Amino acid sequence: MEIWHWMFIVEVILLLLLTFGSYYARRLDMDKHHIMTYTAIIGQVLVFTFYMRPRILFLISRGFVSELLIIHAILGLTTIFLSLFLAYMFLKDKNDYDLTKLRYTRPIMILTYFMWLATFTFGTIIYFRAHILR
Ligand code: HEM
Repeated sequence: MEIWHWMFIVEVILLLLLTFGSYYARRLDMDKHHIMTYTAIIGQVLVFTFYMRPRILFLISRGFVSELLIIHAILGLTTIFLSLFLAYMFLKDKNDYDLTKLRYTRPIMILTYFMWLATFTFGTIIYFRAHILR
């Protein structure tokens, strides 16, 4: 099986991890929330570093850059930046946080989740167009 099919499966798993991670936060099970969201973030950074970054550089060098891919890349970079910012905000205090911190980080978490979902949707459209519906 070609690499993009594997990467699509990995992306589905990462999105499921993030979705279940959000669900556990709502149930106030913070240990599961942290394990799932940190795993999703680390996984996304690895996929970006070793697959999407080299792939976009290759596509740019061949002139194969669509508007969808540009939107995907901008949304994706912002999402990764926001998720790393959130991870830093909590890990620097060893996940020991107060309500003041949650008051401004919670909207960022919700925004990050929906941006991740939007990035995933654009990536999925690109994937189906380039590798499935050819
Ligand atoms: C949260 C962040 C991101 C998510 C959830 C995400 C999701 C996806 C998905 C689901 C695919 C389709 C699977 C595949 O082609 O193997 C994909 C492909 C791709 N993504 Fe991302 N992505 C993210 C960030 C980025 C970033 C930051 C860039 C570049 C700056 C990027 C560039 C690409 C490229 C070049 C492809 C392959 C397009 C192709 O082969 O035609 N992605 N992404």
